[in-house]
Amino acid sequence: MKSLFKGSLFHTPSYGKMEFIEDALIEVNPNGIIEKLVRKEDSNYNQLLKEARQDGLVEELKAGQYFLPGFIDLHVHAPQWPQVGVSLDDPLNIWLDECTFPLEASYKDIEFAKTVYQDLVKTLLARGTTTVLYFATIHNEASLELAKICAHKGQRAFVGKVVMDDKNTCPDFYRDESTEIALANTEKFIKDVRQLAKNVKQGVYPVVTPRFVPSCTDEALRGLGQIAQKYDVHVQSHCSEGDWQDNFVKERFGKRDAEVLESFGLLRKKSVMAHCNFLDEVGADIFIKNHTAIGHCPLSNSYFANAVLPVKRLKERGVTIGLGTDISAGFTPSLYDNLRHAVVSSRMLEDGVDPAKSPQERGLASSRISALEAFYLATRGGGEALDIPVGTFEVGQICDLQVIDMSIDHNKLDQFNIFIKPQQILEKILYLTTPENIRKVYVQGQLVHSRD
Ligand code: GUN
Ligand code: FE
Repeated sequence: MKSLFKGSLFHTPSYGKMEFIEDALIEVNPNGIIEKLVRKEDSNYNQLLKEARQDGLVEELKAGQYFLPGFIDLHVHAPQWPQVGVSLDDPLNIWLDECTFPLEASYKDIEFAKTVYQDLVKTLLARGTTTVLYFATIHNEASLELAKICAHKGQRAFVGKVVMDDKNTCPDFYRDESTEIALANTEKFIKDVRQLAKNVKQGVYPVVTPRFVPSCTDEALRGLGQIAQKYDVHVQSHCSEGDWQDNFVKERFGKRDAEVLESFGLLRKKSVMAHCNFLDEVGADIFIKNHTAIGHCPLSNSYFANAVLPVKRLKERGVTIGLGTDISAGFTPSLYDNLRHAVVSSRMLEDGVDPAKSPQERGLASSRISALEAFYLATRGGGEALDIPVGTFEVGQICDLQVIDMSIDHNKLDQFNIFIKPQQILEKILYLTTPENIRKVYVQGQLVHSRD
């Protein structure tokens, strides 16, 4: 059956430019694809509304409520959910060795995995996140369980069984048994997820996932590149995250991360690389040539990346960019928080941070991004990165949406009735929304979260 959504909406069909449509009708076909986007002034508006009211409208917004596209999180470590907010004062390698790897090792226990993953997926949906690109762990069974939970709860998920096989860098208690087993398990995981996907309306996808270059042998990286090509699947990893990773890769290969990843066939149209703070111009051009995207994780970067990603420069050069939380190197499950920090950190990059320097030498001129640009990254940018038609309300796009209520008691965003221009309303939503303001969330036209 077709369904109809009626209400005022915001989206960004092009980068940094918002469109506001008052009291729109969004007609969605049984597959969850937007078939019509009808404005009040269109001649078929009243007829469509009348028919839909007779059949029962799916969702009709009240005053103070708005539709936003669902958010797309390009970088979540699902097993790190219990660790969120913990131990962030250590450097990345210590944080991984002492905190993260012991936790991830415990997902051998499938019951533990189920408990954590159910809670995480529910939490992300309640934050308005409708599509997620997940790292799981090295364990096939628990990784498949994550895919099943997303399938069941209605979230669109891209899930990777993590590969980390290098004895020199990965601990005995948390490492693939061998390179051959890591590759065989990756192939098995791809087949198992594709089998599961046959009955999942919103989509669940396997992802080839070398953790990062330092944790993998050359043979594993090469083998994973071949598997990605053979099955034409998405690829994810970490790229040039901080000085430590950058230097490690330079010492091992005499090349930067982007060149190394490309040489193993891991940079593809469906590749999303987290962070990339130290991507230079050569690296950026490699990304553009291969249509590889960046998963920008601004909060995580403030802890572990040693630098701010120059989003504006990379976008202008033509690199595809979306946003990620990087749970749990990022301390929040909310892409709203990351969207805000993307703006804040870009401004710090522009102005610079050392007051002892003159304004001219303090920052990187012309680096700031606007809230609307960050909104694009959290929506359409994520869709571009994953190569799926999602992130706006245009005809032909998948209908994932959030219902934001600005007039709830304890977090009223539209009080005083002063700043009521559409852009001002959207800016308030982007900067001030809390989970309580997110009343309902739909994925592929289906209700997956409701606070009403
Ligand atoms: N590099 C390798 N593994 C990780 C991880 O789990 N988190 C982050 N932020 N960086 C990594
Ligand atoms: Fe990460």
